[in-house]
Amino acid sequence: MKKQIEIRFQLNAFDTISELDIPDQILLERAVDAAKHAYAPYSGFNVGAAVLLEGGMIVIGSNQENAAYPSGLCAERVAIFAAGAQFPGISIKSIAITANSKNVAILSPVAPCGACRQVLVEYEKKNGNPIKLILKGEHGKVFSIDSVVDLLPLVFDSSNLGI
Ligand code: THU
Repeated sequence: MKKQIEIRFQLNAFDTISELDIPDQILLERAVDAAKHAYAPYSGFNVGAAVLLEGGMIVIGSNQENAAYPSGLCAERVAIFAAGAQFPGISIKSIAITANSKNVAILSPVAPCGACRQVLVEYEKKNGNPIKLILKGEHGKVFSIDSVVDLLPLVFDSSNLGI
């Protein structure tokens, strides 16, 4: 018999960055700084990401584009792969993401693309702890989401490969 299953998730919405806890504000500020080092001559869309590790270390990333378009990489994956490479075994607690564009005003908080969600979910699984997301556009409005899996229902799971 057919059943309809609804999948829901909750996010926290804030009108201004000042409503966040101080550590989340600091992480977002680092993401804003990171976006200044985006290399985005093709899209004009500058993304910054800041990853907070267990113990307080912050690793930043920004999108890095290439004339061979698919060779570029999103800010989130630049940051998370750098964290995995430089601080192996240290758990990721949260990631702040923001963007600005030379073409349009980014009015809403910026959420990671599907490929970055897939990568973040796997790091969350590797961690054994949820990774919190803190998302901002160019304006004050901020969203926070308690766990990356919330953003990717029915995620592809490597355990299906027998790994
Ligand atoms: N981009 C990111 O850095 N993160 C995302 O989650 C989505 C898109 C980058 C890729 C490309 O350099 C530019 O934004 C436009 O898509």
